[in-house]
Amino acid sequence: MKQNIAVITGASEGIGAALTKLLIKHNWKVIGLSRNLEKLKLMQNSLFQKKDYLKIYACDVQDFSKLKSIAKKNSPADLLFLNAGIYNPVDASQNNIEDYKQHLNINYLGVINSYEAFLPKMITTKKGHIIIMSSISAWIGLPKAAAYGPTKAALRSFAQSIRYDLNSKGVKVQVCSPGFVDTPATAKNDFYMPGLMKADDAAKIIYNRMKSNKFEISFPLNFSIFMKILSMLPDKLTSLLIKKFVC
Ligand SMILES: NC(=O)c1ccc[n+]([C@@H]2O[C@H](COP(=O)([O-])OP(=O)(O)OC[C@H]3O[C@@H](n4cnc5c(N)ncnc54)[C@H](OP(=O)(O)O)[C@@H]3O)[C@@H](O)[C@H]2O)c1
Repeated sequence: MKQNIAVITGASEGIGAALTKLLIKHNWKVIGLSRNLEKLKLMQNSLFQKKDYLKIYACDVQDFSKLKSIAKKNSPADLLFLNAGIYNPVDASQNNIEDYKQHLNINYLGVINSYEAFLPKMITTKKGHIIIMSSISAWIGLPKAAAYGPTKAALRSFAQSIRYDLNSKGVKVQVCSPGFVDTPATAKNDFYMPGLMKADDAAKIIYNRMKSNKFEISFPLNFSIFMKILSMLPDKLTSLLIKKFVC
């Protein structure tokens, strides 16, 4: 039987690492990318007899040439999980130009680079599946998320748009919008995170929902429903509730 191949950006930690391990448990081969090769090697070694199921590359998603050369050796992928991202809370009353640029370059343009590098073979073979990692914070502007949130909103819009061109060419597109997942990225939050879940549980949900035809993979359920309702309320009420419960 043909082995499924997944390309995962940001495979060394958090949600990307958890999904990498889960896919390998289900006998997928994973091409794992992140900047830190040592972390990827540690993960590879933890796989023992399944070490060969994980091929690793040190690659910054800002480096389009490197992504293209990796794609040349590893295409077409059955699944392209565009997950690499950073998160730094910012105080918007301060000067944060470097944070704004860095989030845009990694979170948004990093996904575009990876997408452009791996897409051509999916189009010529007329198959494949792309999941773009957005966030529930894409649905509504939240405090301290002025650098991060807009990149996730842009990714959601990107995913919504590309599916029309890609579905007709045999490529499936989904967007993933998690709430709070316990990872090194959220460890820096000093506030209560409702519905915080383990990365392994998030990976299980993604693995199960990626088989469905639903466009958006959002979780956990209660927090998603709460945030969806919040985003649909009149603005005055929304901002009042956010000030009361989040600020
Ligand atoms: N955790 C949450 O609550 C949550 C909620 C919603 C959405 N998300 C999204 O889910 C994704 C994963 O988040 P996470 O919480 O798992 O974060 P994480 O634990 O910090 O992991 C981020 C991963 O991305 C990689 N990465 C960062 N910058 C990179 C770059 N320039 N090039 C290549 N790889 C890079 C990191 O590896 P290196 O440092 O080795 O490069 C790491 O493997 C992010 O896009 C995040 O925005 C997370």
